[in-house]
Amino acid sequence: MAKDSAVLKSLRDQKGQFVSGEEISKKLKVSRSAVWKEIQVLKNLGYEIGAGPHLGYRLLGIPDRMLPDELSAGIKTKFIGRQIISYEETRSTNDAVFHLGEEGLKEGVCVFAEHQTQGRGRLGRAWVSPKYKNILFSVLLRPDLSPAGVSKVTLMAAVSVVKTLRLLTGRRFHIKWPNDVLFHEKKLCGILTEMSSEPDRVNFIVVGIGINVNADPGELVKGATSLKEITGTWQSRIEISQTLLETFESDYLQLKKGEFEALAKKWEEFSSTSGKRVTATVLGRKIHGTAVGIDKEGALWIRTDSGLQEKILAGDVQHEK
Ligand code: BTN
Repeated sequence: MAKDSAVLKSLRDQKGQFVSGEEISKKLKVSRSAVWKEIQVLKNLGYEIGAGPHLGYRLLGIPDRMLPDELSAGIKTKFIGRQIISYEETRSTNDAVFHLGEEGLKEGVCVFAEHQTQGRGRLGRAWVSPKYKNILFSVLLRPDLSPAGVSKVTLMAAVSVVKTLRLLTGRRFHIKWPNDVLFHEKKLCGILTEMSSEPDRVNFIVVGIGINVNADPGELVKGATSLKEITGTWQSRIEISQTLLETFESDYLQLKKGEFEALAKKWEEFSSTSGKRVTATVLGRKIHGTAVGIDKEGALWIRTDSGLQEKILAGDVQHEK
């Protein structure tokens, strides 16, 4: 959608003050007409740029778009989101990142989209999101894990989302096993982890995250909510994405160090599943009981009504009222 723009950086550095076209062209060692052309490109992307005779240009406003330049500006990560591709529209950001994984790109590359034509959820469901309103992105990871260990990454991602949203909004979001982020039992965020693997080791993982940010109630599917609905105000998708990428990186580094237990503890703290009456559906079979918690693999344990304990590695869980 946009490349890293040195002209934009020059404008940003001025913090709203004028900078002359000549100064930019000298600094960047390009012609003044090249600067002018780049200014037109930025304007077309929605940047508000003021121009004054003898004064030059100044940045007045940035568009509410998930542009790589905005997502990268000031981000404090080392490798997550250091390379960002952003689409106005794509099939699914998970597909796009999967493709990059097959091409051998390094871990940390992220694909964002304003709209997905085939957005996917877990268990074959669709993920529907109105254009320009929400956060839709996927990240490529190459952890040294066996396929069975991948659920740890999924749980970790949910922990990163809840930490981020609690920090930025002060609201108490919860996790429904394995990784739905809820607010008062309404879904705010979904996470879809997909992988390419050999029988005993993972080649790469794609973690796809969808967060309802500024969608209005009428644009949401039944049972879903958005940050705007919860807080009553518009929220910055850029700020949320940057904080999330930073949190995600530090949690992922902890996971890589073999410290999943600390993350599992956080997961338990944020979980609204543990201790609840639940109905789990595993390959079409329904299990009724009380959720006990997760183990060190990230599997959910349920004490069934017959008194047995069942371990669930994958599937779907409904909280009973
Ligand atoms: C779920 O709750 O079922 C998971 C939803 C995951 C949605 C995200 S949006 C970005 C990424 N691309 C997709 O097609 N899906 C994930």
